[in-house]
Amino acid sequence: MDIILRTENIWKTYETSSVKVNALNGIDLAFAKGKFYAVIGRSGSGKSTLLNILSGLDAPTKGKVYFEGKDLSEYSDGKMAIFRRRHMGFVFQQYNLIEEYNVLENICMPVKLDQRKPDPEFLHTILKTLGLLDKQKKYVGELSGGEQQRVAIARSILSKPKIIFADEPTGNLDKKTAFETLKLLMESAKKFGQTLIMVTHDLEIARMSEVIITIEDGRVVSG
Ligand SMILES: Nc1ncnc2c1ncn2[C@@H]1O[C@H](COP(=O)(O)OP(=O)(O)OP(=O)(O)O)[C@@H](O)[C@H]1O
Ligand SMILES: [Mg+2]
Repeated sequence: MDIILRTENIWKTYETSSVKVNALNGIDLAFAKGKFYAVIGRSGSGKSTLLNILSGLDAPTKGKVYFEGKDLSEYSDGKMAIFRRRHMGFVFQQYNLIEEYNVLENICMPVKLDQRKPDPEFLHTILKTLGLLDKQKKYVGELSGGEQQRVAIARSILSKPKIIFADEPTGNLDKKTAFETLKLLMESAKKFGQTLIMVTHDLEIARMSEVIITIEDGRVVSG
């Protein structure tokens, strides 16, 4: 099995002036290239914390994350930013769209930052599947929550990253749109050999994945 991402005994403690929260308590996971993983668990179990650490957005308190065998903690902040832009796609619980950009500019932003040109045919497929063809010139403030979510998904797919991290990517969408969106994510992932790691509370969606990882109080209880 070709492992793209691996963790070694990850711990994460959040410390504020009054309380200490042990969000992750010794996580050992290995993700195979091209597979679709669903991460499930109750609210507060540590799913988003895990995703932030797997994607190098946040550092663990203890333990290591290896991407293609390379220890992520060895990257400087600047190198990490470039690395993430080039190899990773993100759909987060908050969409992180740029207000001053229109839909098309937001979707193309990571590819442009990387001095690459978007693939026009692929861009068209993405816009069409996600129902964004007639929204391209709209600004973020003019979009509904569901539309913003679809823009964030389109942006994560266009740059054909090696891994896509998605935190409740279909949470704001109606059932039909959620499934179409998920199908696009899965098809894109299969076509480009991408690994998909998705947090969801929807068991129907989780069952579409190849591996379900269940988190309970910051520990993996199955997966
Ligand atoms: N920045 C932070 N500072 C302090 N505590 C935090 C922080 N982020 C998360 N936590 C705590 O860590 C624990 C895990 O949070 P996390 O956001 O990972 O849960 P989750 O499984 O994603 O929940 P949800 O399903 O509600 O999104 C929770 O107890 C949460 O309160
Ligand atoms: Mg969360």
